[in-house]
Amino acid sequence: MFANKCILTGVKPTGKLHIGNYFGAIKPAIAMGHQAARFNLFIADYHAINFMKDPQQLQQDIKEIACAYLAAGLNPETDYFYRQSDIPEINEITTILYAFTPKGFMNKSHAYKAAVDKNFADGKPQDDGINMGLYTYPTLMAADILAMDTDVVPVGKDQIQHVEIARDIAGAVNAYYNKELLKLPEYVTAENVAVLPGTDGRKMSKSYNNVIPLFEDEKITKKAVYATVTDSRPMEEPKDPEEVIVYQIYKCIAPADKVAEMAAGLRQGKLGYGHCKAMLLEAVLSETRSAKEKYDYYMAHYDEVCGFLADGAAKARPIAQKTLARLKETLFG
Ligand code: TRP
Repeated sequence: MFANKCILTGVKPTGKLHIGNYFGAIKPAIAMGHQAARFNLFIADYHAINFMKDPQQLQQDIKEIACAYLAAGLNPETDYFYRQSDIPEINEITTILYAFTPKGFMNKSHAYKAAVDKNFADGKPQDDGINMGLYTYPTLMAADILAMDTDVVPVGKDQIQHVEIARDIAGAVNAYYNKELLKLPEYVTAENVAVLPGTDGRKMSKSYNNVIPLFEDEKITKKAVYATVTDSRPMEEPKDPEEVIVYQIYKCIAPADKVAEMAAGLRQGKLGYGHCKAMLLEAVLSETRSAKEKYDYYMAHYDEVCGFLADGAAKARPIAQKTLARLKETLFG
């Protein structure tokens, strides 16, 4: 389906990763990317500075996310793995795209609207604390995509609008000059990718404080797993597995036969919550064990990772340079 396509995705360095990121985003993105002719995965550090101003923290977050993607199977030789800030043409293209971006697009962007809604809810003025980076970020994201001649952008639902904005801007540029200067990107949403629930049953998210951490020491992982909310029904009472949060998490990560085993045990009243938690812990550890080894290696040999990122930028940059040259030639004559 993607055999002759370019798939691109950007990741913001967000700090402490959890198993929801790993099973719900990182692994599926790599699996999809590896079906493409070219898979671009970049670290969106210019996006990150909109909300992260501490350079040390930012570097740490970049390091963790880069090592996590490599641990999860990103191939630095065949994939295009780079930092956004190593491709300055993206920023030049952004400036060009501004000239074709209706301001109304930015007003309507989810990320901006969510920030405004939050301000109103907190009784603050509309644009309180909102910087221009956040306001205009769909245009930078459009440049990320369009610079690299991207065909397909795999996204979560919250990002669909941004890819549509990129497509609309590209369409406007092409229509104005009546030639295909920019490739129109499409989005795909990964239908069968599970959204992992957190230990309280809501979506697993750092902001809910309900996460099972990724690549942590066993003790810390255990503590998080055992904090999963359960009720006080006795073991003997038959239960619908779908009502048991431990099971809901388990079924997203464990092999099918083990999932069936836990479901049957709960239905028959033969499996207590303690036992289920032990099974979940075992699954978290075994399903991430080999990746954790790689992760620990890369964290300890970060210079190698930086080398990969530099090589990735060297491969990706000529593509962005060509896009920029095409634009400048036409726009400036
Ligand atoms: N906006 C995306 C997010 O918040 C990250 C991102 C930046 C991105 N540029 C991109 C994703 C380009 C896909 C394509 O997750």
